[in-house]
Amino acid sequence: MSMLEGAPWLLAHKSMLEVNKPRKISLYGKDYVLWKDNLGEVKALPNACPHMGAMLSEGWCQQGKDGASEIVCPFHALGFDGKGCTILPGTKKKTLPQLEPLELIVQGDLIWSYGNCKPQASIPNILNEISSQYEFVGHIADISIESNLLSMLLNMHDYNHQNGTHRPLFKIEEVQFKSFQDHGHHSHALYNLPTAPTTLAEKLRHPKLLLLPKIIEVHLENHFPSMVIFHGENLLGRIAQVNFFLPESTNRTRTYVLLYGLPKSFAFPLLKHNLLDFARVITEQDGDILGKIYSNTVPKMKLNNEVGMDWVRRNFENWPEIVESNLSKRMF
Ligand code: FES
Ligand SMILES: [Fe+2]
Repeated sequence: MSMLEGAPWLLAHKSMLEVNKPRKISLYGKDYVLWKDNLGEVKALPNACPHMGAMLSEGWCQQGKDGASEIVCPFHALGFDGKGCTILPGTKKKTLPQLEPLELIVQGDLIWSYGNCKPQASIPNILNEISSQYEFVGHIADISIESNLLSMLLNMHDYNHQNGTHRPLFKIEEVQFKSFQDHGHHSHALYNLPTAPTTLAEKLRHPKLLLLPKIIEVHLENHFPSMVIFHGENLLGRIAQVNFFLPESTNRTRTYVLLYGLPKSFAFPLLKHNLLDFARVITEQDGDILGKIYSNTVPKMKLNNEVGMDWVRRNFENWPEIVESNLSKRMF
């Protein structure tokens, strides 16, 4: 199963890393340790210590000779700088690099990586645009799911799964598809989801239902393969909820959400917690269903509005080529 080598993946937003707290990240079947040093710079090395293989992510950080924090192995306490060099006990000189760093491309707070593969697509600029216009609200739902990348992407571009996967949350009555705009590796899907009325008792039991309008107007902006942006707006403000996907290995995929907001009312910050919690519940429900699919099943039937999945399959099969955009359609 392909993991789309050469695509750019967003490893993390800087706020997801605490200063001097190592974190394990997996990409393309390899583990890395990522840490934000005392100067705010982010470094990444393979996670297996070159001495005897201990997990560096289980270690700690200390100030190195050059002033920046280095990662210390939990087994015999060798410290490695961002280039993978260490100082052996009894010597005063740094060794040559003992580990090949994971190359990072840091744009503001956004930490991208090609997983040391040859880049086959450029980093979408949309997140820089959103960061410059919106406030960063927070991150949520960072989970690793036993699913291959393709299954995860199909789920995220499946406009019919609300009634099953998200049934306890949404009570969607139908999918009113409006349009799909296909621009190769970039697309937009617009549709409305009328929601069933809920009683006051239900709302009190599940306060999240209070956030649901009568009709959810969905605008998804898709950047193949690594992100889907949900654009939403109500009287209090606008949000951009960005869902990310990363192939940790052939059968594990990581997902998480970054939330950005553009307040229109002083009451917007009150929503913050609820919006993040909403994103968490949705992501967990997606993760749950992905663990319950026989992913090698060949579909024998097709539903309406599967155009997003057609878009994923076409881009996946042809990666990294961008084939002719042929899925744009309007339906009223
Ligand atoms: S295994 Fe890391 S210092 Fe020995
Ligand atoms: Fe979902």
